[in-house]
Parts: sequence; structure tokens; C-alpha cells
Amino acid sequence: MKEAEAKYPEESATQMVEVVLPNDTNLLGNVLGGRVMHWIDIAGAVAARRHSRRPVVTASMDVLTFSHPIKLGEVAILEASLVYVGKSSMEVEVRVFSENQVTGERKQTSTANLTFVALDDNGKPTPVPKLKVRTEEQKRKLEEAEKRREMRKRFKTEI
Ligand SMILES: CC(C)(COP(=O)(O)OP(=O)(O)OC[C@H]1O[C@@H](n2cnc3c(N)ncnc32)[C@H](O)[C@@H]1OP(=O)(O)O)[C@@H](O)C(=O)NCCC(=O)NCCS
Repeated sequence: MKEAEAKYPEESATQMVEVVLPNDTNLLGNVLGGRVMHWIDIAGAVAARRHSRRPVVTASMDVLTFSHPIKLGEVAILEASLVYVGKSSMEVEVRVFSENQVTGERKQTSTANLTFVALDDNGKPTPVPKLKVRTEEQKRKLEEAEKRREMRKRFKTEI
């Protein structure tokens, strides 16, 4: 089968916007961590599907930080971009921002790195287009993702 053409991260980059409603929050009026994880998973999966044009499953989440709360009534903005592609796996970085609808103030609240795997019609891992990078930032993120991939492999064999 002919190899699919390599793609730039911009070709699959995904932005998702959620309004934080009462059902999304805890007793302090801050968005629930589990709700943010759900949104991160969805935004990341959309980017991975756009790159691969295949069904994808979440294989792992390596990094997830929460540095600021997102308050009831604020808007959560999620930006997902591919940072690394293996044979069938794709690492996606998802950044989460809060935006205050009154003042317009915007803060980065979370960062996550997830790996998705593309599946064929039999539910088995299948090759995806390679990732092309052009900016210094894309090159740096690719190198960091390669290190995480090595760490995951070491973790799997040593632990
Ligand atoms: C992810 C999954 C498809 C991998 O299947 P597998 O038979 O172990 O596949 P392989 O060992 O051949 O690995 C396939 C690719 O997945 C990657 N991979 C497998 N497990 C991984 C993990 N835990 N973290 C990151 N990448 C992983 C491999 O590195 C490989 O990447 P490459 O093709 O780019 O080199 C399989 O474990 C699965 O279906 N898991 C459940 C997924 C799911 O249901 N997610 C929903 C959330 S619960």
C-alpha cells in the first residue's frame, strides 16, 4: 500500500471551546479536574484523527498539570497539536486556557501530553502519516517527545 503523505502539525491542530457550567464545577466553583481531563482527551483525539484519518484510542497520558483553576462562567479553551508520530502512535500536546468573559483575561491552566494509537478495520494498530516539522518550537517539542517515548519504553521494561 502507498505510504500516506507526511503532514505538518498545523494540518491537524484543533481548538475546542467549553463554557464552564454549574454541572462542571466543585463546591468552590472551580471546574472539576476530571471534566478537564475529559475535554483534553476529546481535543487530543480530534487532532489525532485529523492527522491519521483513522479511528484512534488513547494509549496513555504522560503529563497533566493544573496550575490555575477555571471558574464557573469562564470559558475553557483547549488547543491540541501533534508533537510526535511513531508508526501507529501519535503524541498530542493539549494546552488549556481559561478566559474571563468580562475582562478578557486569559491564563494557561493545564498542559497534557497524550499518546493515541490509530486502528485499522480489525481494531489493530495501523501506520499513520509521518510528522513534518519546520519551526524551532516544533523541533524542540519533537525532541522532548522522543525522550518521553524512551522513558515510557524504559518504564515498561524496568518496572
Ligand atoms: C493502545 C493499544 C491499541 C496498543 O496495542 P498493542 O497491541 O499493545 O500495540 P503495539 O505494542 O503494537 O504498539 C502499537 C503502538 O502503540 C504504542 N503504545 C502501546 N502502548 C502504549 C502506551 N501505554 N503509551 C504510549 N504508547 C503506547 C507503541 O509504542 C506503538 O507505537 P508505534 O506504532 O508508533 O511504534 C492497546 O493497548 C489498546 O487497545 N489499549 C486500550 C485503549 C483504550 O481503550 N483506550 C481508551 C481509554 S481506557
